[in-house]
Order: sequence, then structure tokens, then C-alpha cells
Amino acid sequence: MAYCVILAHPDPGSFNHALARAACDALSGLGREVHCYDLYAEGFDPRLPAAELGRDAPLDDALARHCAAAAAAEGFVIVHPNWWGMPPAVLTGWVDRVLRPGVAYEFVAGDGGEGVPRGLLAAKAAVVLNTSNTAAAREQSVFGDPLERIWKDCIFGLCGVSDVRRRMFETIVTSTPAQRRDWLADAATLVEQTFGPAA
Ligand SMILES: Cc1cc2nc3c(=O)[nH]c(=O)nc-3n(C[C@H](O)[C@H](O)[C@H](O)COP(=O)(O)O)c2cc1C
Repeated sequence: MAYCVILAHPDPGSFNHALARAACDALSGLGREVHCYDLYAEGFDPRLPAAELGRDAPLDDALARHCAAAAAAEGFVIVHPNWWGMPPAVLTGWVDRVLRPGVAYEFVAGDGGEGVPRGLLAAKAAVVLNTSNTAAAREQSVFGDPLERIWKDCIFGLCGVSDVRRRMFETIVTSTPAQRRDWLADAATLVEQTFGPAA
């Protein structure tokens, strides 16, 4: 089984891209099979069309591949900047279309969709690597750090992934090259601790 690294950032020269590379290298270093999905580079279409709403809707080949990879993934690494307290739209679109009913969650028999869904993802753990330009104390006190709940509760918790470890790297805009090198090492360590032999 493979690990999925999902990257949502438009600039190949960004720190987010460097984080995704560090995560892929760390997983490869552990001997794991890694599939890296650069959503901007592949032109992932984030729009969920009406025809995909039904649980048994036919999926195009590219989306079916994403769904199969997500369903079978041993673990996830999600990499994205904080944009308005949310993931970039290309990534929320990936969540909308890929983490679909029958792939990532289902309602138990007799539940018409109003109850508590059951998670279906095989993955036991996920790492979320975020970047922002807001100091941690202000992010928490003024905004409530919405990405924490989005990834841990609203998405991975609902889909059955209970071990979600998140790190926010800030403040990017004032960071030094030495700081960014240390952060890349921190990201690699988090991936190794989460998915390594001792995990
Ligand atoms: C559309 C947009 C919205 C943003 N919203 C926020 C925000 O709500 N909070 C914040 O701290 N930074 C925000 N930023 C700044 C980004 O988080 C920051 O540029 C990024 O984390 C830096 O990483 P990078 O060097 O890999 O691009 C925003 C940037 C853009 C382009």
C-alpha cells in the first residue's frame, strides 16, 4: 500500500513545494511507496458537478484513480498554505470530489444521511503541514485556528483517520533561510515519527 502526499500550492518555487518534497523524501527514506499529487500541476478540477453527487455516480478515469488511491492509502500527508483560514479551493475541491460517499465514508443501514457516518479510509494516520503569515497566538485568539478542526474533525475524523498530526509553519514572510531549513527538517521528523517503524 502507498502513501499519498497531496500538495495544493500554485508556485513550484514555494516553501509549500519544499515541504512536500521533504515529506516525500522522508517517506521514501522509510522505504514506503509514495504517490505525490500536485493538484495545481495536474490541473485538478475542484468543481463537483451534479452528475457526481449520487453515491453510485460514474466517475471519470482521473477521478476514479484519485478515489482508489485515497481509499487504499496507508497514510496521508496534506501540504497547503492557510488561505482565509481555509485550504486553497483546489484542495477543498479534492476533498469534495475524492472523499466521497462509498470511498471515504458511508451511512449505516437505515440511515438516510441524517446520522453519524462511518469512516471508510484505510489510513490510520495523517500529517497536515500548513504555512501562514499569522503568529500562532493571534491565529488562535482571533481566528480560532479553523484549519485544526477542519482537518482533524470535519475531514479525517469523519473518514475514520484518528491519528492526525498537524504543524503550522509561521511566519513565512519574515522567515530566514536557516529557519526554513530547520522547518523542513522538522516536517521530515514529524513524517518519520508518524509513519516510521515505531509508530
Ligand atoms: C489568497 C490568499 C489568502 C491568504 N490568507 C491568509 C490567512 O488567512 N492567514 C494567513 O496567515 N496568511 C494568509 N495568506 C498568506 C499565505 O498563507 C502565505 O503566503 C503562505 O503560507 C506562504 O507560503 P509559501 O511561501 O509556500 O507561499 C494568504 C495568501 C493568499 C494568496
